[in-house]
Amino acid sequence: DKGNHRHFMQKEIYEQPIVVAQTLRSYLQRFEGRIVLPIPDFDLSGIRRVTIVACGTSFYAGMVAKYWFEQFARVPVDLDVASEFRYRAPVMEEGGLALFISQSGETADTLAALRHARAEKQVIAVVVNVPTSTMAREADLLLPTHAGPEIGVASTKAFTCQLAVLAALAANLAKAKGRLTEAEERNIVRQLAEAPAAINGALAYDESIEAIAGTVAGARDVLYLGRGTDYPLALEGALKLKEISYIHAEGYAAGEMKHGPIALIDEHVPVVVIAPTGPLFDKTVSNMQEVQARGGKVLLISDYDGVEAAGEGCVATITMPKVHPLIAPLVYAVPVQLLAYHVAVAKGTDVDQPRNLAKSVTVE
Ligand code: M6R
Repeated sequence: DKGNHRHFMQKEIYEQPIVVAQTLRSYLQRFEGRIVLPIPDFDLSGIRRVTIVACGTSFYAGMVAKYWFEQFARVPVDLDVASEFRYRAPVMEEGGLALFISQSGETADTLAALRHARAEKQVIAVVVNVPTSTMAREADLLLPTHAGPEIGVASTKAFTCQLAVLAALAANLAKAKGRLTEAEERNIVRQLAEAPAAINGALAYDESIEAIAGTVAGARDVLYLGRGTDYPLALEGALKLKEISYIHAEGYAAGEMKHGPIALIDEHVPVVVIAPTGPLFDKTVSNMQEVQARGGKVLLISDYDGVEAAGEGCVATITMPKVHPLIAPLVYAVPVQLLAYHVAVAKGTDVDQPRNLAKSVTVE
């Protein structure tokens, strides 16, 4: 039932504050300021390496997690899409943590990769939304998301719930490795607990995003740029747009622009720049200015300070609530989802059932 929404995708975008809160409830002891796993005594202290494998949007959630695992737990992370991982000869030391992320828990390549990692004597952790799925059954450490059924082919609420679980897992691993003081842990709990309200704050910009969808709907190509955890978000934004609007879109690490893609820039190419204020903001802005100098039409997604500092010369700006860097990916996912959604609606495509795609890819 779509309720009073026009599409399942729209309904699922709007459910995010609630389902992220619901998911976090299994991982946070809010009043104690503690982060817990669903299997509380699961020992992560011996983990020396993490291998993250997934497909599509779930892969981009894994890519965000790589930044977190490295930053908080200082554990080396190997990351790959399942269709590559299963056919290369990845080197895995016995006892490593292999982490699989999947909404459905049935994606053929991800499942085959899981079984391969099992044969390589990895500890199998699974972040999954369907609790009765094959992957859920084959996990040593089952980390459920509580997004509820996701009907739209374009994944939205599953993604932000995956991010919530992965942030908790990264903090947990950091704790197990003795890299998190109690005060730091309390602070992470506080930041994560604020995510649902911040996502709500992002949803409040829906109408202004709808108003700029026309800038993108007529384009043939669109670029998305970001740095750090905003780089996987750029990839996710581009995937969402191509999936439901059939516009060619690419996500790039902002710093890679001058290594080739900048040759594509002219006044016909909208460039979506994802740049919350923070340590990488100035770097991304300077890449953005290189785009503008070549006539590129920039749509800047930042917070109030970022839009104040760099919004001039952009064809559009989208202002997000100012949030802690840890929860920024959960918040900035919303405008990229809404932009893709409104562009697809403007183009009149089948938002929930885009051509050539299936919700669950159970063949390789
Ligand atoms: O069920 P899974 O999370 O394993 O699915 C992975 C991808 O097929 C999925 O994320 C796909 O890329 C979505 N349609 C993206 O919106």
